[in-house]
Amino acid sequence: MPKYLTSLVAAGVAAALLSACQPQTTEAVQTKAPEAQVKASEAAQPGVDYHSLSNPDQVKISHLALDLTVDFDQHIIKGAVTLDFNKIKADADTLVLDTRALTIEKVEADGMPVAFEMGKTDEHLGTPLNISLPEKGNQVTVYYHTSPEASGVQWLTPEQTAGKQHPFLFTQAQAIHARSFIPLQDSPSVRVTYTATIHTPKDLLAVMSASNDPQTERDGVYEFNMPQAIPTYLIALAVGDLEFKAMGKRTGVYAEPSLLDASAKEFEDTEKMLEATEKQFGPYRWDRYDLLILPPSFPFGGMENPRLSFITPTVIAGDKSLVSLIAHELAHSWSGNTVTNATWRDLWLNEGFTTYLTYRIMEIVYGEDRFNMEAVLGYKDLQDDVDALEEADERLAIDLQGRDPDDVFSDIPYEKGALMLREIEQTVGRAAFDKFLMNYFDHFTFQSITTEQFLTYLEGTLLKDHAELSEARIKQWIYQPGIPDGAPVPHSDAFVKVDNAREQWLAGDISAADIDTSNWTYHQWKHFLNKMPEKLSVEQLAELDAAMGLTKQGNNEILHSWLLICVNNEYKPAYPTLHKYLVRIGRNKLVKPLYAALAKTEEGKAFGKAAFEEAKPGYHPLTVKANEGFFE
Ligand code: BES
Ligand code: ZN
Repeated sequence: MPKYLTSLVAAGVAAALLSACQPQTTEAVQTKAPEAQVKASEAAQPGVDYHSLSNPDQVKISHLALDLTVDFDQHIIKGAVTLDFNKIKADADTLVLDTRALTIEKVEADGMPVAFEMGKTDEHLGTPLNISLPEKGNQVTVYYHTSPEASGVQWLTPEQTAGKQHPFLFTQAQAIHARSFIPLQDSPSVRVTYTATIHTPKDLLAVMSASNDPQTERDGVYEFNMPQAIPTYLIALAVGDLEFKAMGKRTGVYAEPSLLDASAKEFEDTEKMLEATEKQFGPYRWDRYDLLILPPSFPFGGMENPRLSFITPTVIAGDKSLVSLIAHELAHSWSGNTVTNATWRDLWLNEGFTTYLTYRIMEIVYGEDRFNMEAVLGYKDLQDDVDALEEADERLAIDLQGRDPDDVFSDIPYEKGALMLREIEQTVGRAAFDKFLMNYFDHFTFQSITTEQFLTYLEGTLLKDHAELSEARIKQWIYQPGIPDGAPVPHSDAFVKVDNAREQWLAGDISAADIDTSNWTYHQWKHFLNKMPEKLSVEQLAELDAAMGLTKQGNNEILHSWLLICVNNEYKPAYPTLHKYLVRIGRNKLVKPLYAALAKTEEGKAFGKAAFEEAKPGYHPLTVKANEGFFE
């Protein structure tokens, strides 16, 4: 634990005795970050979680029992959490929890009041809640409610849902937002089991990252149990007018009624993906695997909440072209949920392994051609990030001290991590690498590990048995910026004709109408647009649009790429569609690049600001935060 915590805790205890039983509200952010947080000049230490103010090395929570009421009138979640804890240090006398904008009403143990106190608020991390440990027992109950502005909760009005009749709520805890709806030790190194009773309006259904009974009666009281110990960023809740449809024996989908059939059809291969992953990489350890389709304001593509991945509706394309997202969230059941990054510096252990597994699952279920195309598209994302980012942020093990992990989100942990694993696979051979992966998931099951623990494990396994694999090379991948020379470069035959068509058209040898796109897949369209030069003339864009109907494109990914080209070249005929797109979709990865491109010119800025202001009431807090800076 960073040293500052020790004194923070001591100070907290003294104050706690004075302020026991007084309701306490987290103040607006005003305090300076603790010393250890701002000293970013010192290299980050492996295994130190710079993003939690809690004290799991002194006292560690192990189980949560939640009893919460979802209040759609006040936009608050209110209730109590009973935390089981264990003393790690015999003389520990304080349990420190993370909170962010929570109002703590009282703390009790065994029905008796317990002294508590709120510590100093940190801009990125929230406010520590210092609780004096009770004399007896290993449980405390915290009574609290959330703020309507909770960073990890989005409240949607009926108009923002597909059905327009009922409100909707969902949480998004990764990376450090669980603390905005539950007081807990919010670190990926802290694993908890949980039970929950959730009270909602009678006509709505609650679902969680836990056991969900598809047959449950809709009565406004819902019980959940998560018997496997999960990191706290995987606790999730959603409430809305949801219905369930089975897709396979262990897989199904929850969605608003009007989206249910289309979702079940689009994602009908989920069961196949699950079976393929088990066969290749070892048992699925989570019982059921269901999907929850959220309203379009969901700020991510997907979130791997255990047993119930949260999914953006923007990937329902009608042709399964974007279902690698499902493979990705499913793969997290192995890399991420079973074996977890110990700190956010180690995120690549979650996302790099998952991206590698995603490619493998897609290859098994849809074949090598599709795999090759997706690998080329992923490589392009990686190259773009390597071109755009500071060198320090191109490392796999990334230094996040003093920074909000949300601000450092990029494709590096995903695609660079996956490419390193691909290189290892190609060096030792697929059979040996698959065996390694199977053993890795088994060895670290339900543990949170650091990059260095992965390295040590690699030393004792593949590095020991395969002289052709070099430790220096692996360290270069992990600790150095950029893509190492000689790294695998994906190739797709199916893209060759797309490249030819683009080049011939750019050279003026053919017109856009001459390009035979009748059999192009989503991937080919994406690649065609991806590799366009930055600058095109208005005439060229008008020609493309007339021949290919790009502005009318229904696939949200293709439309995104096209709109980005339009913004970069100020192609105005597409702007009404661009405006609608920005207001309709809240997925940050789809809107942020468009806002960023718009903000480069004064005129674009005015246009972007108008769209942003209109969209803002419907955006998730995270999407607001990520984009508001463009228009200040
Ligand atoms: N776990 C991530 C989302 C995430 C990462 C949230 C870090 C907060 C902090 C999820 O699995 C993810 O990677 N989603 C991607 C999916 C894509 C790569 C297929 C997304 O949302 O775009
Ligand atoms: Zn992921």
